[in-house]
Amino acid sequence: MTDRTPPPHPDQTRPDQHRSDQPDSVHPDLAPDSLVVAAGRPERVAEAPVNPPIVLSSTYHSVGPVDGSRRSYGRSENPSWEPFEEALGELEHATLPALLFSSGMAAIDAALSLLPPGGTLVIPRHSYQGSLVAVHEAESRGQLTVVEVDVADTDAVVAALPGAAMLWLESPTNPMMEIAELEVLARAAHAAGALVVADNTFCTPLLQRPLDLGADVVVHSVTKYLAGHSDVVLGAVVTSDAELRARLLRTRTVRGAIAGSFEAWLALRGLRTLAVRLERSEATARLLAARLAEHPAVSRVRYPGLPDDPGHARAAAQMSGFGSILAFEAAGGAHPAEQLTERVRLWLPATSLGGVESLVERRRRHETEALTVPPGLLRLSVGIENAEDLWADLAQALA
Ligand SMILES: Cc1ncc(COP(=O)(O)O)c(C=O)c1O
Repeated sequence: MTDRTPPPHPDQTRPDQHRSDQPDSVHPDLAPDSLVVAAGRPERVAEAPVNPPIVLSSTYHSVGPVDGSRRSYGRSENPSWEPFEEALGELEHATLPALLFSSGMAAIDAALSLLPPGGTLVIPRHSYQGSLVAVHEAESRGQLTVVEVDVADTDAVVAALPGAAMLWLESPTNPMMEIAELEVLARAAHAAGALVVADNTFCTPLLQRPLDLGADVVVHSVTKYLAGHSDVVLGAVVTSDAELRARLLRTRTVRGAIAGSFEAWLALRGLRTLAVRLERSEATARLLAARLAEHPAVSRVRYPGLPDDPGHARAAAQMSGFGSILAFEAAGGAHPAEQLTERVRLWLPATSLGGVESLVERRRRHETEALTVPPGLLRLSVGIENAEDLWADLAQALA
């Protein structure tokens, strides 16, 4: 749980010492589905609002040295970020608050900035395509070396680690739904001297906590499940390592990829219902995965919740649920898959995931998607609509 007692020896290099670290808002005994509701609330004092206010100010009254010990400027500090940061830190079992960024990609960029110049990055070949584009562009500028691996193949990942400075993890992968053996890989990476970063967007801390499994840093596209309503673009980084967090904060302040106050408020509002949204959407995803697996117009379903999925045992061991993203391949490839996205009436043909509305997308329509992703692969982000309505719509589109 987040330790928010003031540090005994204030370190002047920590640029956000102004944070009000109130021990009474630490929730060590709460289950995650209570924590999403209770964390990040203002202090319990008479007549105080129960929700944090939105602060719209680019600067703060301040005199004296600007050393991070008090708020001075809106690119460095914003009280509107802090409730969400504290809540996400607690949820991920970090000892420090998360850091909010302007997008998931900004959070990923900040995490990548932890690599030493020219360092080697080992990354799943089916990571989110935006992450792969970013690292390959950085490689073409000579900033790092990329080694792509099949993250489900533990031996292959371990073999790639000697000499690496960072292991990037994503599990399940987007969109192939492969499951990495997180704890084993984090241990092997540390033995090789590499930092471990995990993109936990698909799972959220309600289904998987990579810091508990050995990751040093967790990144999120808050845009997805955490905010949950497809109305904001935001990202976050979480770590329990004070030195890494100070570097990430420095990157955010200097590069300026900060969140807007309203977006941060919306993200916290969305977080409040994360547990019920996930419970509902996962139940529907399981049902749809099982029915799709029986459908003659479907050649393969990828969902770790299916007992015969190659990642099922691993997912059951390290996740507390299987999530509500699944992928399936339309028999016949790209053309019938694309047609399905035009025929659906309730499902929305759109990119992104993790919102209340169900989305379907043929991933290879993105030119940057990995060529090893089958052309007919459709990714479903299951929302919270009625399960039978969702099935009926898919079935009519498949017919
Ligand atoms: C797994 C994953 N990580 C990161 C991102 C990037 O996040 P954003 O779109 O908020 O920049 C995405 C976006 O789809 C994603 O799916």
